Amino acid sequence: MTTGALTADGRARILNDGNQIPLLGLGVWQMSDGRECIDAVRWALEFGYRHIDTAQAYGNEESVGTALLASGVPRDDVFLTTKFFPRNRDPVAALEQSLRRLRVDHVDLYIIHWPEGGATWAWPGMERARELGYARSVGVSNFSATQLEEVIGAGSIPPAVNQVQFSSLHYRRALLEACQRRGVTLEAYSPLGTGRHLANQTVRQVAQRLGRTPAQVLVRWCVQRDVPVIPKSTHRQRIEENADIFSFHLSDEDMLELDALDETDGTDRALEHAWW
Ligand code: A2P
Repeated sequence: MTTGALTADGRARILNDGNQIPLLGLGVWQMSDGRECIDAVRWALEFGYRHIDTAQAYGNEESVGTALLASGVPRDDVFLTTKFFPRNRDPVAALEQSLRRLRVDHVDLYIIHWPEGGATWAWPGMERARELGYARSVGVSNFSATQLEEVIGAGSIPPAVNQVQFSSLHYRRALLEACQRRGVTLEAYSPLGTGRHLANQTVRQVAQRLGRTPAQVLVRWCVQRDVPVIPKSTHRQRIEENADIFSFHLSDEDMLELDALDETDGTDRALEHAWW
């Protein structure tokens, strides 16, 4: 199996450590702990999602764990991500607490949520979490091409994933290329621009032409670039809609039209403004 290639069914991507990440996941950022998050994860699993993305900073790991347990879907069938909150000092100790909240014995992916305090200090702890079997894969999030180089230079293994804000309106082409050159899988968060991109005229026109919704077009744009993507919704019908992206295709012309919406100037940066 080749790193970066898709699995035979075209639904998952092979990471540089040999593990597989489903292209479609549910992101649970900004879901409140309790009923809202439990329902969303439950519905996603019903509709066939097999990839859930949470974080220590979201404060809803317990709800993700509750929904997973209640779903009856075997643990091994679900790709579970959480993120190290970098205002804590110890990635291993923080993950031990996440595992307790999630009620699992490992996560599939553990990533540094953002490079606060520098790109490299937390990486040895991330590698240790992997060695202990707490995380099958480890990676980073919100890292620029330069920060990615730093962490690769400092570590014994490279990150498997760099999860960043990515969509046709945030088409960070140079960052995507830097990840590809290094065998790191770029993963897209906020594929709908936290909802803002849904009103974009071009996105709407492409959607109308194809008899699809703007959300489906935006998620499909990522999938068609072999980029794993984690749209967020708390609504049952939208969660279902966002998963129906393997039954249609964007033409080369559609892709070009959407690529041209990029507002980042093809940057190799992960963010326009750091929040820390
Ligand atoms: P809600 O959670 O109320 O359904 P992103 O994934 O880029 O962060 O975008 C998430 C935002 O987009 C949320 O506000 C979510 O609202 C909204 N959203 C998600 N899917 C859809 C959809 N299919 N149609 C309309 N809005 C959606």
